[in-house]
Amino acid sequence: MATRQSPIDYEALVKNDRIHGRVYTDPDIFEEEMTTIFHRGWVYVGHAGEIPQPGDFRVTRIGRQSVIMVRDDAGQVRLLMNRCPHRANAVCQTERGNASAFRCAYHGWTFRRNGELASVPYQDGYDASFRKEDFGLRRVPRVDSYRGFVFGSLSPAGMTLDEHLGQAKEQIDLFVEQSPQGEIKVRSGIHKYGYAANWKFQIENAMDGYHPNFVHQAFLRAIQKRTGIKVDTFSGNSIGLTRDFGNGNVMLDYRPNNKANREKMMSLLPTTAGGSDYEESLVAAYGKERAEEILIAGGTHLLVFPNLILIGVQIRVVQPLSIDQTEVFLYPTLLEGVPHELNLKRLRGHEAFYGPAGSGAPDDLEMFERNQIGLSAEVDPWLLIARGLHRERREPDGTLVGHMTDEVTQRGIWRHWKKLMTHAAGAATQPRRASGGA
Ligand code: FES
Ligand code: FE
Repeated sequence: MATRQSPIDYEALVKNDRIHGRVYTDPDIFEEEMTTIFHRGWVYVGHAGEIPQPGDFRVTRIGRQSVIMVRDDAGQVRLLMNRCPHRANAVCQTERGNASAFRCAYHGWTFRRNGELASVPYQDGYDASFRKEDFGLRRVPRVDSYRGFVFGSLSPAGMTLDEHLGQAKEQIDLFVEQSPQGEIKVRSGIHKYGYAANWKFQIENAMDGYHPNFVHQAFLRAIQKRTGIKVDTFSGNSIGLTRDFGNGNVMLDYRPNNKANREKMMSLLPTTAGGSDYEESLVAAYGKERAEEILIAGGTHLLVFPNLILIGVQIRVVQPLSIDQTEVFLYPTLLEGVPHELNLKRLRGHEAFYGPAGSGAPDDLEMFERNQIGLSAEVDPWLLIARGLHRERREPDGTLVGHMTDEVTQRGIWRHWKKLMTHAAGAATQPRRASGGA
């Protein structure tokens, strides 16, 4: 694999135990991230559950490039570049909706739901060599999906989506199988927020088990007051693990056995409206053991590099805008085949932590912006990601794990980021045991 020629020395900026602040502040690095990560590798675009009917569409972006995700007449999900092949007008201006066709406003070229060019006004202005087949909306070169999660790659070649996801697929299974029918609905609206800081702060923070006891102290205390349950998931010797699957895919893993915690969680179900019915339907669909795993860890807590996060009930999508401006979209999901009360509970719980007046997410955003301010003080430009480096270990399945508060997840993200930025995309990053400091 050829090494790209770049004036930026990424080896010098990303070490096993620290990273240079320039990775969050240099606009040239942002440009290379767009080219190398977002315009080449697999990027999450949307969920098929957002566009259930033929003609349903939404407009989004892969990196900087405008894309229409649409369900065509045959029921297939298409990713079409939102650019008229005539003179490059964006053919769709609406964020989402249902369209019988896409008609370019500039000179009236009209495209079918599958992107084919249907009609050209005054076509006799072109000679006989003009073929409508040649001028459909261009398709995203590679499209693939896993359990309804649709990804696109603007590169015609590279690793498959299956290779990119690797063992993270099992976490996506857990997320989807919270529904006894294995189907999620993504039609409950979107929380959108923006912040004035680098996009990587969001993906690092979402997989950070060190901060909640501090940033979210008020929330954890409120939970304790209301339920009597002391949430100690994030203490130094907690029940969970940080886990690195490789390829930048990392998670906070709550599955490791902790009998007391499991019993507490299971005991809540019979007292939750619809809870017993739900438990029974999961057991009927997946068996007792799997049902229990889904109940304890079904929400998962996963990053699929670079822009998809699954936490609890939500799909979260990170959209970098510039080196210090980021947009984030949170889609709370509903489950097919569960009591109405349970879906309501999912929505209310989501709002309580993540909503504009929620007790959690706004505090994280404040941290990102303080990070960006802190980076302006450059006497010592390094950020430390060494926590737990001495005690991380490899599990038999090849993943690297550490304590819940260790920075295994941050190191996993940066290891893959460096690999992509240093080399042409396509090579998988295995979670190697880090061998020490800089
Ligand atoms: Fe679309 Fe001319 S730019 S029809
Ligand atoms: Fe947080």
